[in-house]
Amino acid sequence: MNKQRVLVLASGILGASILTAVQAADPKPQDVVDYRKAVYTVVGWNFKPIGAMVKGEIPFDAAAVARHAQYVALMSQAAPEGFTKGSGPDAVKDTEAKAEIWTNADKFKTAMTNFQQESAKLVDVAKAGQEADIKAQFGKTAETCKACHKEFKKD
Ligand code: HEC
Repeated sequence: MNKQRVLVLASGILGASILTAVQAADPKPQDVVDYRKAVYTVVGWNFKPIGAMVKGEIPFDAAAVARHAQYVALMSQAAPEGFTKGSGPDAVKDTEAKAEIWTNADKFKTAMTNFQQESAKLVDVAKAGQEADIKAQFGKTAETCKACHKEFKKD
């Protein structure tokens, strides 16, 4: 499958998920939590091998970074839907999300926007293929994970 085909497929998936969101209005709090955990599981799954390449634990491969980074960037766009009101720790036990996500919503939104922007840049930089730039941009993206987790996720 070539890259363009993957992108077309990915945008099809995005379109479909927007449709589903509209159809499944008012999902149960537990379903929202399951959704956001699934989104972050995909984020973590794809971010980890990039980190391993940056640290030199596995061979560096810019094309593989680009492929993984695309999933991270795509999931960063899918994440906000996973934080609907009423899906916080007061409603669902099995979550590491802190109540501050909803009480300090502007700050959370900024943290999310930073994640979206830096992960999108990581895709661009990875496609350009310069190892030093990719490592630097990986660091900037990782900072957005840490910043949000520190403030809004329980350990
Ligand atoms: C805007 C906030 C935010 C950003 C940015 C963010 N996360 Fe998270 N992440 C969360 C929250 C909140 C949870 C807890 C979700 C829950 O338990 O309901 C979480 C959970 C996770 C989990 C656990 C998923 C599970 O199954 O419980 C992983 C793995 C993860 N994040 C990885 C990452 C990585 C890697 C990045 C950066 C590339 C990142 N996150 C960026 C807020 C964020």
